[in-house]
This record gives sequence, C-alpha cells and structure tokens, in this order.
Amino acid sequence: MGRLDGKVAVITGSASGIGRGTAMRFAGEGAAVVIADLNVEGGEAAVRDCRENGGRAVFQKADVSSEAEIKALVARAVKEFRRLDIIYNNAGIVGALGPLEQISVEDWDRSIAVLLRSVFLGIKHSVPELRKTGGGSIISTASVAGIRGFAGLHPYCAAKAGVVNLTRSAALEFAKDKIRVNCICPGGINTPILHRNQPGVKEAMEDWMAKGQPMQRAGHPEDIAGMALYLASDDAQWVTGQAMVVDGGLTVGSQFSNAADGGQLLSAMPPAGYVGPSFEK
Ligand SMILES: NC(=O)c1ccc[n+]([C@@H]2O[C@H](COP(=O)([O-])OP(=O)(O)OC[C@H]3O[C@@H](n4cnc5c(N)ncnc54)[C@H](O)[C@@H]3O)[C@@H](O)[C@H]2O)c1
Repeated sequence: MGRLDGKVAVITGSASGIGRGTAMRFAGEGAAVVIADLNVEGGEAAVRDCRENGGRAVFQKADVSSEAEIKALVARAVKEFRRLDIIYNNAGIVGALGPLEQISVEDWDRSIAVLLRSVFLGIKHSVPELRKTGGGSIISTASVAGIRGFAGLHPYCAAKAGVVNLTRSAALEFAKDKIRVNCICPGGINTPILHRNQPGVKEAMEDWMAKGQPMQRAGHPEDIAGMALYLASDDAQWVTGQAMVVDGGLTVGSQFSNAADGGQLLSAMPPAGYVGPSFEK
C-alpha cells in the first residue's frame, strides 16, 4: 500500500531536479501525477520515469508565471484524474544575479514573477479544487535563501522569503477548509539549476558542496522528495504554515573545522581540550 494511494498531485518544475525526483517518489507511492514544466523533453521523460515507477502520470506544458497557464494546469489535473489532492509549487530559476545596483527593474520583475507570483497563482487556483476534495496539501519550494541572506542573490532571497511568509498567511486562511499549506527550504541540492548540465560540473559541485556541509555530502532531489512526501501524506495532518528546512545542517551554525579554508582560521587553537581566557598562554 502506498502513502499517496488514490491521490492526485500537480508538481511544477518537474521536468528536472527536485520536482522530477518528487514526481517519481509520489508516483511510486500511488499518486497520479501531473508533470508541469516549460521543458517538454524533460517533462515527457519524467512521465516515463513515473510510469516505470508504477504510477500514472501526464505532462502539461505550463509557464508558472502565467495565470492562464496555471488555471489550465489545474483544469488538466481534474479532467485527467477527476480530483486534486496535492499541488507542489516547485518550479524555479536563479533569476537576476549580481550587484543590486546593476539589476534592472525588468529582470527584478521577471525573477519575482517566476519565483513568487507562481506560488500565489498555484495556491489561488488549486484551492477551489482542493475544497471540493474536502481538503488537501499545498507545498511550495522556498529555500534556505528565504530565511537568511546570500550575497548577489537579491530577488531570489526576496522571493523565497515571500514564499515562506505567504505560506503562513495562506495556512491561516485555508485551515478551516482542511487545506494545509507548507513550504520546504532546501539547502544546496546538486541539480541543473546549479550545474547547468555542463560536463564535469555536477561532479565538481558534489565535492565542493560536501566540504561546506555539516553532513559532509551534497543534497540530492531525493532528500527533498522525502519531505514533500511527508507533507503531502496524511502523516502531516496536523502540520500547516511551516517552513521545513532540509539542508544537511547548513543553517544551524558554522562548521569551520570542516571547511577547506576555514580550518586555517583556527590553526592557532589546540586541536582539542579546555581553552581558557585569551590572555593566558
Ligand atoms: N538546487 C538547489 O540547491 C535549491 C536550493 C533551494 C531551493 N531550490 C529551489 O528548488 C526548486 C527546484 O529547483 P531545482 O534545483 O530542481 O532546479 P532545476 O533547474 O533542476 O528544476 C527547475 C525546473 O523548473 C522549471 N522552470 C523554470 N522556470 C519555469 C517556468 N516559468 N514555468 C515552468 N517551469 C519552469 C525548469 O524548466 C526546471 O525543469 C526551485 O524553486 C529552486 O529555487 C533549489
């Protein structure tokens, strides 16, 4: 018996990375999945993955920043599978990158449209169908960049913080409808958003990410899929309005001794033992 037997899920950005990994996981747990993405080739491959994993899946091309396309996406899920239980607003981009003074208003607006307007639209247009089902689960991908700053990632940080707090306000509004609204804040996950499918970069990224992580390995889509499955399932019936951090310990504090260069900062310290006042030898 699967944890999502009989449930219908829409997952945006599921042609690749976290969304694709989650679609496969949901399909393997009995859900029928609507794969939504701009990437047609990747979306069709994701449908094949889901079917091979024993599930039902269809692909719908959709731009998550478009209200008409989000409406059509929800309608497709209901037409295809007769109901909607779960929407995972996950599609994303890096967006405008670099010094704040050099970001144009157009690039700011395009970034926010894909990263934040999309989540608003996903919530707005799924709620009527989730109400008809008698409740459901809305999940969005925020980021650790939504709970702390990252230099040079201004619209991304702003949009992801927006996703975290929109999650809370929406959770309050829809709790009476038994619709739970949560988001996930991944740390570094080694997906094409970072390595851009360039030869060798995925492998190099794997090593680099492991060095900066308390858990000493890069994150992978399966790490986030596990949290998404929990939030989608009835195990999370009493969980709403939360930002679930899944980051291998990245945000709990500094781990200088694990960092390749950070270790040198502490070379004046003895390797272990009690260290008293700094004026003492
Ligand atoms: N990889 C990480 O380290 C990381 C960390 C924190 C948060 N995230 C977030 O996770 C989510 C998934 O990213 P990923 O790492 O799997 O990257 P990815 O590039 O592998 O997947 C993102 C998917 O979104 C799709 N997409 C982009 N713009 C779209 C649009 N306008 N309409 C529809 N689809 C669109 C892309 O085609 C792609 O398939 C994003 O929201 C990202 O911001 C990623």
